[in-house]
This record gives sequence, C-alpha cells and structure tokens, in this order.
Amino acid sequence: MSATPISRRVDRIKPSPSTTAAQRVRELKAEGHQILDLTVGEPDFDTPEHIKRAAIEAIHRGETKYTPVNGTPELREAISAKLAQRHGAHYSHAQIAVGGGAKQVIFLALMATVDTGDEVIIPAPYWVSYPDMVLANDGTPVVVDCGEDDGFKLTAPQLEAAITPRTRWVVLNAPSNPTGAAYNAAELRALADVLLAHPHVRVLTDEIYDEIWYGTGRAPTLVGVEPGLRDRVLVTNGVSKTYAMTGWRIGYGAGAADLIAAINKLQSQISSCPSSVSQAAAVAALTGEQDFIAGMVATYRGRRDELVRALEGVPGISCTTPQGGFYLFANCTGLLGRRTPQGAELGTDEELARYLLETQQVAVIHGAAYGSPGYFRISFATSNAVLAEAAARIARACAELS
Ligand SMILES: Cc1ncc(COP(=O)(O)O)c(C=O)c1O
Repeated sequence: MSATPISRRVDRIKPSPSTTAAQRVRELKAEGHQILDLTVGEPDFDTPEHIKRAAIEAIHRGETKYTPVNGTPELREAISAKLAQRHGAHYSHAQIAVGGGAKQVIFLALMATVDTGDEVIIPAPYWVSYPDMVLANDGTPVVVDCGEDDGFKLTAPQLEAAITPRTRWVVLNAPSNPTGAAYNAAELRALADVLLAHPHVRVLTDEIYDEIWYGTGRAPTLVGVEPGLRDRVLVTNGVSKTYAMTGWRIGYGAGAADLIAAINKLQSQISSCPSSVSQAAAVAALTGEQDFIAGMVATYRGRRDELVRALEGVPGISCTTPQGGFYLFANCTGLLGRRTPQGAELGTDEELARYLLETQQVAVIHGAAYGSPGYFRISFATSNAVLAEAAARIARACAELS
C-alpha cells in the first residue's frame, strides 16, 4: 500500500473505456496480432497543411509563451465568429473559455458548479466520460435511458421526470457519440419548454461533432431554437473532430459570463492556459478555408452507408443509421444468449465484443460502456477496406453461433 491513500474521488471513477480499449488494441498489435481496430475516436485524416503551417509560423514568430488564461484574443474572436454563424448569437470574449480540448472545458464546467450530491442528467447512450466527470466532482449522475425507439434521444417527458431541486445540469450531446443521433427543431422546442419551467437547470450542449453531419442544411441548436435559454446553456465544442486535430488539444465553451469566469479561475490554477502553438493552429482552422470539411463528410457518409448495408445483412444485428459523427451503434440483442463454437454462452454485449476480438481480431466497444447494454459501437473513422473486412469477419463470427 502506498503511504498516501488515493482519494475517494479517484476511487469512484474508472479510466475511460475507449482509452482502455485503444490501449488494449495497441498491446495486441505490439504482440504481433493483426487487429481491425474499430474503437478509434478520432478522424483518420491528417490535420490539413495550412493548419500545420500556421503552427510552425507561430513557433517562428516566438509565440511559445503563456497566453491569457482564456486563450488568445485572436482565438476567442474566431470562436465568437463560428458561434455567431452556428447559433445566431453573439458571444463576447468574456463569454468564451478555451481549454485543452472540449473534455477539459466540460470537466471544469462541472467542477465550477457541482457540489456534493448535486445531480446531472445524462441521457444514455452517453459519451463515456460524462458520468465519471460528474462523480469526480462529487456529483450524482442521473442516467436516463433513451431507447432506440425514440432515436436514442431524450424526450421532454423524460426530462421533466428526471428534474429535481438538486438538478444542476442536463447534458445534450448531438450529433451523439456513440449513436450519431441529433435533435430536430421540434424536439429541441419541447425540451426547451420543459427547461423554461425549471430555471435552476443549466444545459451543457456538447457539439463536438456538429460539422460531421449527413442531413441537409445544418442541425438546429438549442440556443438557436430558444434564445431565451442562452444564459443557461454552455455550448461546448472544439477543433478535434472537424479539423482532425485531436492531438492539438483545443476546445472551448461559451455561455454566461459568471460561469465562464469560474471556469477561467480554475483554468488559471490548473494549466495556466492551453498550448500557445495549438491556439495559433486553431485560429487557422476556424478562419481558414473550410471546403475540405465537405469532402471529409462525404467520405464518412460513404463508409457509413456501406457499413450499415453490410451489417444489416447479418442476422442478429440491426442498425439505426447515424445522422452525424463517425460512429455506428449496432443493436446486437439478437445475438445474446447464443453459443460460440467453443460452447460459451454470449450473455452480454461485453462477451460478444470479446468474442469478436479473440476469434476475428475485430475490436469494437461494448454498449454497456455507454450506459446501453445490448449494443456495440463501431467507429467508421477508418478505411473502407478495413470496414469491409471487419463487417465480413463479424458476419462470419455471427454465423458460427448456435
Ligand atoms: C461527445 C464527445 N465530447 C467531447 C469529446 C472530447 O473532445 P476533445 O478532443 O475536444 O477533448 C469527445 C471525444 O471523443 C466526444 O466524443
């Protein structure tokens, strides 16, 4: 036992299952196994050249020192312009926080607002980090099961039923990781009506996949649908997914100035500021040419369609087509309870994921990690060849079940 015990806060949480899965795949590959990795949570595209160039130029200009805690004015200006275009709302520099990824901003927002026993409503399937972030900040995650019949989306009656006097936040992630689901304007209107009746509840909208969108036009936003909620909404986003910049670690939050000031206060004690060089790259990403995004989305769309087609042909698996993002959340309830050729019963999605990994070297993440057993998540941020081979192997593995 170590001299200083590890805090209860840390004991309460688990490492991110997607990070753990990615680590397991790396280990298996290092041992020489040929793994088809469908766990990746990041674009397989390279960061565009003009963004890399901006970072190199920033280094040469000597922009290698601390920046303001809440990011450079240039970056806040670029974020403000993006938010105006997306939400039809003006956010001043005092209403924008910049952090080491959207993940850090979300964590700091919870740290800034959640006290022991405060509740945070999290619709499931959820991004794996939300419940653990709430627990790490002494809060209580209130998970609401959002079934496939409702498109994996939180309904207004569900929201109404989950709100208590202790509710601090409801988290809305659209397009969603892991389902790709997104709310339409009528659904947002219904949620907004519930929220207007409960002024103590804030909303965290995680919009990290907003540009990876397969619908026509743009997906509506809560602030766009109900500007009256603006001061209670923290919009979070970043450059990781849209610009293939996961390693640069730049994300942001926009909302009420007092909340942003609290986030910045924490940031000043935690990391002082995000990386200066990455901030310069993020300015180039947000203000530079955006045309390549359409090409990237078209590539993802082609992969999505192929994947859905291939898996729909596998007895026991069914899919709701994702509207955005680069994940497919496949329903595998039709396979549970069946037996492997070795005689083992596949009782859970986790056992199914292990079976696929061990017998076919296909790595997926089981649905229970996202709060929704009976599913598994496939990332299609990988080549068509890998996806086609993986789908063929999944079909083979399923055909061998009795
Ligand atoms: C839903 C969701 N939110 C936030 C993040 C974190 O993004 P960032 O790289 O900006 O921290 C991810 C990354 O996987 C995500 O899937």
